[in-house]
Amino acid sequence: MDSLQTRHIVLGVSGGVAAYKACELTRLLVKAGYTTQVVMTAAATRFVGPATLQALSGRPVATDQWQPLAANGMDHIELVRAADALVVAPASADCIGKAANGLGDDLLSTLLLARDTIPTLLAPAMNRAMWANASVQRNVQRLRMDGVGIAGPASGEQACGEVGEGRMLEPESILLEIEALFQPKRLAGRRVLITAGPTFEPWDAVRGLTNRSSGKMGWALARAAWEQGAEVTLVAGPTAQATPYGVSTIEVETAREMRDAVQAELKGVDVFIAAAAVADWRPARVEAGKLKKQGDARPPVLELDPNPDILAEVAAQPEAPFCVGFAAEADDLIANAQAKRVRKGVPLLVGNLGPQTFGRDDNACVLIDAQGVLELPRGAKLDLARRILVEIVSRMPSQQS
Ligand code: C5P
Repeated sequence: MDSLQTRHIVLGVSGGVAAYKACELTRLLVKAGYTTQVVMTAAATRFVGPATLQALSGRPVATDQWQPLAANGMDHIELVRAADALVVAPASADCIGKAANGLGDDLLSTLLLARDTIPTLLAPAMNRAMWANASVQRNVQRLRMDGVGIAGPASGEQACGEVGEGRMLEPESILLEIEALFQPKRLAGRRVLITAGPTFEPWDAVRGLTNRSSGKMGWALARAAWEQGAEVTLVAGPTAQATPYGVSTIEVETAREMRDAVQAELKGVDVFIAAAAVADWRPARVEAGKLKKQGDARPPVLELDPNPDILAEVAAQPEAPFCVGFAAEADDLIANAQAKRVRKGVPLLVGNLGPQTFGRDDNACVLIDAQGVLELPRGAKLDLARRILVEIVSRMPSQQS
């Protein structure tokens, strides 16, 4: 979240076993800097105590429209007017049914009726048969048509012991969905393909060549593109990063595997961002076992072959997507990055100083195109990624006037 603004979330909690996860979601929201007003249905208070959610949110929990928090007694209007987003997690079949059909017989359902234009997100949670029920699916469809976001549900083991679709999304994923509510959908209907992380080029069974790359910038770009409404595919070299939420991920090891995955995914792609640190060379021969040290004999000579240049290959194709390259330089950033942009044949190149970005959560960079240089000051990699995507969208052919 941008630090200048504190956003206020009304978090509705309806009745279901997953209500206990609303405690964790509240904690995550507060930690992320949101202020949070919890509203519970009577059924929800059977599963978790309002005192827990009051302690976690730092505010009294609204549970009953007849015992209002607002001085004028109209919680269903006052609470929602103060909110930047209305989130219901868990959203039970009953809560979904009321919201889809305009019913309001308790505080949460009247809040949903009074929501006006604020972004609204429901995270359904119920038994798999209840979720599959035609009436629930019809209600969910209706809510989507009314502009309400539906996050999840996930598949897996359920509290009742059955396995299937209906589990509430994990609180960490719901938080990502909430953050995405505040990002304009500049990339709706667009496909974005991103390479990230290093490649690993084996030499023998235990050794190989690689580049320094944590993958953090590529992951941030994938998340930012997803938040802005794109369908995102991430072709990822070996890193310690967790599989990103909402993004289709293809794991690869070598540059040639990365090239093949990129070429296989290229159809219909609007934007290709090459953030990977690809090994320029690979061992010419891969030894089957482990090369052994031979006493005092001279060390073996490592012969190298060049790897394909994935970005230059894509950029050279007819009807290439809008291509964005990265350059991690050690010095003379702008001159080196400018030359690289021309050499790779890409309209936009992001340059940064390698030693100042490796493994860090923040970065500073320059954007270089045919018109010149734009400096983006140091900030969190996610904020920088969001900003880079704004610049990409403004340069895409159909966006230019
Ligand atoms: O040539 P250099 O590695 O400095 O160029 C960096 C840019 O080119 C990055 O965008 C990187 O992802 C991409 N690249 C590539 N395939 C290579 C080498 C670099 O896609 N074999």
